[in-house]
Amino acid sequence: MILSGGEGTRLRPITHTSAKQLVPVANKPILFYGLEALRDAGIRDIGIIVGDTEAEIKAAVGDGSAWGVEVTYIRQEAPLGLAHAVLTAEPFLSRCPFVMYLGDNLIREGISSFVEEFRCKDVEALILLAHVEEPQRFGVAELEGNRIVRLVEKPKEPPSDLALVGAYMFRPSILEASRSIKPSWRNELEITDAIQRLIDEGKRVEAHVINGWWKDTGRLEDLLEANRMILEGIVPGCEGSVDRESRIDGRVIIEEGAEIVRSVLRGPAVVGRGSRVIDSFVGPFTSIYYDVTLERSEIEHSIVLENSHISDIPGRIEDSLIGKNVEISRSRSRPSTFRFVLGDNSRVGLV
Ligand code: DAU
Repeated sequence: MILSGGEGTRLRPITHTSAKQLVPVANKPILFYGLEALRDAGIRDIGIIVGDTEAEIKAAVGDGSAWGVEVTYIRQEAPLGLAHAVLTAEPFLSRCPFVMYLGDNLIREGISSFVEEFRCKDVEALILLAHVEEPQRFGVAELEGNRIVRLVEKPKEPPSDLALVGAYMFRPSILEASRSIKPSWRNELEITDAIQRLIDEGKRVEAHVINGWWKDTGRLEDLLEANRMILEGIVPGCEGSVDRESRIDGRVIIEEGAEIVRSVLRGPAVVGRGSRVIDSFVGPFTSIYYDVTLERSEIEHSIVLENSHISDIPGRIEDSLIGKNVEISRSRSRPSTFRFVLGDNSRVGLV
């Protein structure tokens, strides 16, 4: 099952009305990376937990046939925790072993080898861990060998720097464990508490520390970093048009129908379907999604979502996430003032 409910509070205002799992990283919605990881691990039946953004997720994923999988949507009445999501999915899970994958997580190496390990081992749960710099932002594990002794959710004083990565392998015993726990201080039924319950009952829970990179894309800096890491590995290609006065340096993908006019693109970067870059500079680590117009402007290390228009910006735009249908332009009319129409929780940095 993939968890794609919840609220994207940390990526507001982008996720006020849209699903955070559908924000594109290197022009692919984050959720699709999870679907691919499960598909590549040989999983064909995928339940997606959805909340208020159900319609949008359904429109993007459909019945799963694009990935060769069968998708069932499971509505969670409110984001009451990861263990609550497991309980909500009980009829779908029908007492089978399963993988739980958090829809806002990106795991570079995929999960195939861990799923294989879980299939072969007599363990009640297999969890993935990664060394992180700010363990207090995650569920944290204390280990003895590769056996877990204790798990704590977002501890003020972390017992280690090993964070729980958002992919878990369970047997049906996690359902009983989830039923027996109480909501946490943040009023959620925490999966960490349910796994702790398995451990307390003497069940075998093993951990695997992953070596490759992993990102929980809940915050802007993590999203930009994920974008950077995926763009590092792209294979350049051009299905759009580039005029003679433009220059493409390094690895750049120009998608179908995109138009580059009198501009410089310095990769790694991607310009999405139907977008137009005119008299502009697109610098490294930039992902421009569909039907965007960039005119007489410079941008790098940023993500721009669909149908936004950026024109005549005097300085270079950097480290930015620009939502759908956004317009950023320079007005030549007097008086020369800044004029904004910004959503709640927007952030603007002026020079
Ligand atoms: O990213 C790894 C971390 O994910 C772990 O280290 C933590 O132990 C784990 O609790 C979780 O922490 P977060 O606070 O980051 O989880 P978040 O609320 O962002 O939810 C993760 C995904 O699950 C996200 O795609 C939203 C979805 N979700 C979340 C909740 C609480 C649901 O579908 N239903 C829910 O009730």
